[in-house]
Amino acid sequence: MSRIAYVNGRYVPFAEARVHVEDRGYQFADGVYEVCAVRGGKLVDEEPHAARLKRSLKEMRITPPVDDAALAHIMRETVRRNRVRDGLVYLQITRGVARRDHGFPAQAKPALVVTARNLAIDKYDAAAATGVEARTVPESRWARCDIKSVSLLANVLAKQTAREAGAYEAWFVDDKGFVTEGSSTTAWIVDADGVLRTRQLDQHILPGVTRGELLPMCRQLGIEFAERPFTVAEAKAAREAFITAATVGVIPVVKIDGKAVGNGKPGPVAQKLRAAYWAERS
Ligand code: PDD
Repeated sequence: MSRIAYVNGRYVPFAEARVHVEDRGYQFADGVYEVCAVRGGKLVDEEPHAARLKRSLKEMRITPPVDDAALAHIMRETVRRNRVRDGLVYLQITRGVARRDHGFPAQAKPALVVTARNLAIDKYDAAAATGVEARTVPESRWARCDIKSVSLLANVLAKQTAREAGAYEAWFVDDKGFVTEGSSTTAWIVDADGVLRTRQLDQHILPGVTRGELLPMCRQLGIEFAERPFTVAEAKAAREAFITAATVGVIPVVKIDGKAVGNGKPGPVAQKLRAAYWAERS
């Protein structure tokens, strides 16, 4: 089946989907994006993704190219036209096309691209069943990681470092020794005292939608948690560790920099949260 992409008002065959060479996303990474999971043909956590998108646009001072209802329709339509059951929707908005000049262009129209595809989600279940490894890398990103900007070079390099070391994810570590987050995931531990911990929201991490959905679930499930950063040493001495993101849900981390976390197997809190998260969304 042929894939379709939405590009600035038109649904076009994927192979013909194009943006201009002077799109500011291409030249300056002057744009934002969202990734939303699809399960059973439905968008997962659509509202918080839409809210975060709006916030990113506002922080970047980019005018939304279409209103909320139109955007929701375009995302659904892109899912439908690509016959996505279990997969993802990718949405990107840039400041638009203009002659190259760092300052904001007077005229440019924000550009919107939406794609969708099926994913072999079994591979995430398999990764969750065995657990994965995280490699720590020095934090090297800018000071506004709370904006979901397409400027992901540091994340790309970090992920590649992790992969070349045989690991699944890279964990950024700040200059005080605290883990900020993963290259494309939120980082969590169940510390040596049994408290679930993830960093507080600030400008050093993305406010993960999955993170925001899991915290109230922890309350319901009676899992004690604290929004407090943890060091690499605390993570290595933790009972459990895991990562979260929209497409993958919860994935246990069983090794950090080659050292087993806890007994080296997926822990009960991560497994409980993974099951509860998808149970409400499948
Ligand atoms: N990544 N932190 C970073 C740096 C991320 O890029 C992501 C998501 C997350 C988790 O956020 P959420 O729970 O809203 O997916 C945390 C997406 C999936 C990506 O770039 O593909």
